[in-house]
Amino acid sequence: MSLSSEPFPREGGVLYAEGVPLSVIADAVGTPCYIYSANTIRARYQRLEQAFAGVPHHIHFAMKANSSLSILRLLQEMGAGVDIVSGGELFRAHEAGFGGNDIVFSGVGKTVREIEQALDQRVLLINVESEAELVTIDAVAGARGVVAPIAIRVNPEVTVETPHEYIKTGEKGQKFGIPRDDVERIAALAMALPHVALKGLGMHLGSQIANAEPMREALPRLLDVVTQVRAQGHVIEYLDVGGGLAVPYAPGEPLADVDDYAALIIAATRDWGVQLLLEPGRFIVADAGTLVTRVLYRKHAAGKDFVVTDAGMNDLVRPALYQAYHDIEPVRDTDGAITVDVVGPICESGDFYAKDRVLADVHAGDLLAVRTTGAYGYTMASNYNSRPRPAEVLVEGTRFAVVTERERYEDLVRLERAHLQWRSA
Ligand code: LLP
Repeated sequence: MSLSSEPFPREGGVLYAEGVPLSVIADAVGTPCYIYSANTIRARYQRLEQAFAGVPHHIHFAMKANSSLSILRLLQEMGAGVDIVSGGELFRAHEAGFGGNDIVFSGVGKTVREIEQALDQRVLLINVESEAELVTIDAVAGARGVVAPIAIRVNPEVTVETPHEYIKTGEKGQKFGIPRDDVERIAALAMALPHVALKGLGMHLGSQIANAEPMREALPRLLDVVTQVRAQGHVIEYLDVGGGLAVPYAPGEPLADVDDYAALIIAATRDWGVQLLLEPGRFIVADAGTLVTRVLYRKHAAGKDFVVTDAGMNDLVRPALYQAYHDIEPVRDTDGAITVDVVGPICESGDFYAKDRVLADVHAGDLLAVRTTGAYGYTMASNYNSRPRPAEVLVEGTRFAVVTERERYEDLVRLERAHLQWRSA
């Protein structure tokens, strides 16, 4: 078959990942499994890279969206950095070959141990989210005899439209960032502390933001803060505009216009003498991934039809947690249509992938592709109901590789102790 620019093209009635039929992978690796298109990830990264080509910038992939080492390596080879939010992500980033300079450390609750690790690895910036954290970073850096490079994460307090409450972050009253009215005072404190150097300001407005309005509103507020803190004598080199670019999940939804997004940010910031930092997660990986699951049963109960799959909310939690919509397609073309709930095997009524969805008339044994699951899919998977987490597979052209083995039952109890070693109080 000819290689299409679609990550998951349908040819001759079957769904492919690039040049590999999904059924070939499912038969070889089992289901459920996540399948990623390497060339799509590269294309999304390049798309964003090109949009910002005219100005100094660096893309720091938000690895919470997908932290598979294979995908991190692929992005690292393309010149990306990462945005991390934990010591575990720092460890993964290091394993994937990222150097300290490629790393910005975000997150509202960094531990002393994590701050130590970040300083030891000489990360580019630690994004400070509170006064107390600033003081802690100064103390930790002081104890190590170093100066911590920091940025303040500003909460610009703009109104943000996102599909779900839980993925807003840049509004008033959120736990994230330092309210813009408090930044001047906290920057003055940073100036007085000997072991921090304030080099940047940042924000992250939320995730799955489909229009430019919040960014248009927030940028001048962030730049006002740049003026304030420069007046205090801080040398602000970096401006971190966060992530949040939307991708379409349902048919007909638009892909965020990257050129508009870039043009808006570039126009607002180009005369400010800053390097832009971007923290996209979803945009780079979401549509490059599909979760493949096998239909276990059809079921008719209380006037409803159900398709029971071998994947559940432990494998992909987004529908249960955010009522998120994911397209579901049969891997092999199937005649007829049915209106069904697509549900998993887990003992929770929240364990569904779709409700009252018109779907191809699939039967036990058929494969389904749950689309746009490359972001916040595997990284949010759990072992609930003692289910081993699925395998992850990377496809490139006509070849594929297992990049994460399916967990085994032994893995489920690996950290548990049958013979207890009691300790005295
Ligand atoms: N930077 C920071 C500081 C963030 O908190 C996030 C996402 C990002 C960047 C990347 O945002 P993105 O470009 O991926 O929208 N689990 C939810 C999404 C939570 C996003 C949390 N923060 C979901 O499945 O929709």
